Amino acid sequence: MKTTRPLKIKTDIEAISILDVYLNGKRDEKTVSTEYRKYKGKLFVAEDFEDQVIGFVSLSQPVAEDTYIIDHLAVLKSHRGLGIGSDLVRFIMDQAKGLGGCKVYVLLASWNESGHTFYRKLGFKPSAALPEYQNEKKNMIWFVLDIVTQQYESS
Ligand SMILES: CC(C)(COP(=O)(O)OP(=O)(O)OC[C@H]1O[C@@H](n2cnc3c(N)ncnc32)[C@H](O)[C@@H]1OP(=O)(O)O)[C@@H](O)C(=O)NCCC(=O)NCCS
Repeated sequence: MKTTRPLKIKTDIEAISILDVYLNGKRDEKTVSTEYRKYKGKLFVAEDFEDQVIGFVSLSQPVAEDTYIIDHLAVLKSHRGLGIGSDLVRFIMDQAKGLGGCKVYVLLASWNESGHTFYRKLGFKPSAALPEYQNEKKNMIWFVLDIVTQQYESS
């Protein structure tokens, strides 16, 4: 069993870029880092007790008065299934709540069943389907959690 707690959560764009490239591997670190630097929302990494970066999460700027989006969430493969992703989502929900947010959305590919299970377990519900997201013919589904009316377990 890996010792991952206490998680330290902080902002570190270089660390997010390195982990993103490591996990997704499609683009170079400079391009990814530039994109994250331009990101207007909040970005956080999680470190374990040995200061190893094991995950990241983001919260958009408000897209409506009280509505936010989780644009990025990932956990290092070797550390999945330990509750770290859930901790990161609960942390970001607390951030949204602190900003006066009521609703938090996340956009998932229709085939990402593990992502659906993960977010459903945290209280998110499917909201709207986008059959041809950004003209790429990708089937995407918005999931939403109403942090005012639906109970969620705070971090
Ligand atoms: C989705 C992701 C962040 C989950 O992180 P994690 O730390 O492994 O998640 P947790 O350990 O907190 O899992 C909580 C629950 O979600 C569900 N879950 C998580 N991963 C799952 C999987 N691969 N398949 C099915 N259910 C899964 C389980 O019900 C789990 O509860 P359990 O451990 O009691 O069974 C991680 O798998 C990941 O980085 N995936 C790639 C990126 C991605 O898909 N991001 C989501 C789109 S933004």
